[in-house]
Amino acid sequence: MERFFFYVFASEIRCPLLSFINKGQRSSNSLPLWLHFHRIVFKVDLSENMSLEVELQKRKTFGIVSHPDAGKTTLTEKLLLFGGAIQEAGAVKSNKIKKHATSDFMEIEKQRGISVATSVMAFEYRDKQINILDTPGHKDFAEDTYRTLTAVDSVIVVIDVAKGVEEQTEKLVKVSRMRNTPVIVFINKLDREGKEAFDLLDEIETQLDLKVTPLSWPVGMGQRFKGVYSLYENNLILFSAHGKQRDEEVIKINDLEDPVLEKNVGKMEAEELRHDIHMITSVYPEFSRDAYLNGEICPVFFGSAVNNFGVRELLDCFVDIAPNPLPRETEERWVQPDESKFTGFVFKIHANMDPKHRDRIAFLRICSGIFERNTNYYHVRQKKNLKFSNPTAFMASKKSVIDVAFPGDIIGLYDSGNFKIGDSLTEGEVLKFKGIPSFSPEQFRFVNNTDPMKTKQLNKGLDQLMDEGVAQLFTKEDNGRKIVGTVGALQFDVIQYRLKHEYGASCDYEPVNLYKACWVDSNNAAAMKEFIQRRKRDLARDTDDKLVFLAESAWTLKMAQENHPEIKFYFTSEF
Ligand code: G4P
Repeated sequence: MERFFFYVFASEIRCPLLSFINKGQRSSNSLPLWLHFHRIVFKVDLSENMSLEVELQKRKTFGIVSHPDAGKTTLTEKLLLFGGAIQEAGAVKSNKIKKHATSDFMEIEKQRGISVATSVMAFEYRDKQINILDTPGHKDFAEDTYRTLTAVDSVIVVIDVAKGVEEQTEKLVKVSRMRNTPVIVFINKLDREGKEAFDLLDEIETQLDLKVTPLSWPVGMGQRFKGVYSLYENNLILFSAHGKQRDEEVIKINDLEDPVLEKNVGKMEAEELRHDIHMITSVYPEFSRDAYLNGEICPVFFGSAVNNFGVRELLDCFVDIAPNPLPRETEERWVQPDESKFTGFVFKIHANMDPKHRDRIAFLRICSGIFERNTNYYHVRQKKNLKFSNPTAFMASKKSVIDVAFPGDIIGLYDSGNFKIGDSLTEGEVLKFKGIPSFSPEQFRFVNNTDPMKTKQLNKGLDQLMDEGVAQLFTKEDNGRKIVGTVGALQFDVIQYRLKHEYGASCDYEPVNLYKACWVDSNNAAAMKEFIQRRKRDLARDTDDKLVFLAESAWTLKMAQENHPEIKFYFTSEF
């Protein structure tokens, strides 16, 4: 990158800072002698600071989450169409694992391959660079999604008008709420019959624990769907199917009593709309950007993604209100995005689809400073410097090599086994980014080596797959047996398949009766020692050597908690 350094000569400066330095000593015109001798006083890299600030203001990095089939892929595609990142519908491959593929891991792998390209999609809209992070909706890949959410600054939640809040929506919003991530809700498929809008708002408030404020409101739905009224822009937007909106179908409404409403939507609908808007303004809090940014209030939009209806309104509002790259917490301190030194963390690792090349792509979220190609950066966990000659950015479905990247950007780094999820890269500072936990798995199996000649390969394969976050591996304290813990059953097939095809190792599984794995610690060393002695049979180590309690049932866990009050039990690895 081209840089201009400005060397500021002290003898030529008459600035407030120097006046401050000189305060009480002499007038601002007569500088202290040492400043004349040390002619170069400040070295200001103006171009870098300026471009960092400008680029920061441009960036909006967010994730779209939903229960499968609510319309996440369709909405993503429409947003990309607005940004000109794609030219035609159907260009975005769904990142979801199709229903028929639940036991077909070859198919899963293929689909995971497709999802590399569509994992991050960047586009420009109204002078902003928008980075969308795609998240698998399938529940067996929930951990992947949780981790992706650590790399975004805000979230759009898509809800199907007929189905309302579903299981996956609940789980994913809960994870977003853990970090107070600002949330916007898009209620989709208004061209179909569904639940009443007020009922949906109640559902969102009670089930998702979000305080809502509608910024658009539907006029009818299904066959009677006439359009939406935008409370954000005071417009009535009349519905035409298939994105065939014309300018004259957006009607400015300054006064809801205006008979133009009747003219466009009918008498009954106009009355109903007035009534609803009156209810909304008296019941729901007024929209405040600060409250949204603090995660205290969540704007709601209505529309139909497949018809490209209500999507532009969503996008325009998103661009106005969504946060620019936010500070990130590390174990050591908060990192501000405008700090001049580069920092970033790895939140996702994707295996190469070609078994002949075992390299992988590590997805890095840039948190501060400017990342530059072919520059040495410090890999904090491995305590060594690494240089990247081919860092990639993801523009829609294309990947391209980049020279620089800014906070909020996600870049792909080719990796031959250096990275683990959660790793930090810096310019030398030791930082460990927080908020990338492992979650307590829900399914467990003993893993047995079925080819003793390939023990090394098996161990290596398991280690690398765990680094990628495919599953978690626990080694029992009493007998050293290995237990794989996953969020969903699919991962067991994926592990077996990949061990065989990528590492030449083979394994089988044995059932193990476990309910939960909880991380444990205590402030009381004596109590911890006693706990370890008494419960050795139920203890294991994770791949970071953290102690984990393996509970056979909810009851065993409860009893352990009661019998060992000095021990703390955690359901995520970060505490
Ligand atoms: P997902 O990524 O959240 O899993 O959902 P996706 O976008 O794949 O959408 C799921 C289904 O819902 C798709 O139909 C899609 O066309 C449909 N859909 C999305 N938005 C709307 C909408 O506003 N109205 C209606 N009526 N349908 C919508 P499909 O039949 O499963 O797939 P396809 O064959 O249409 O691609």
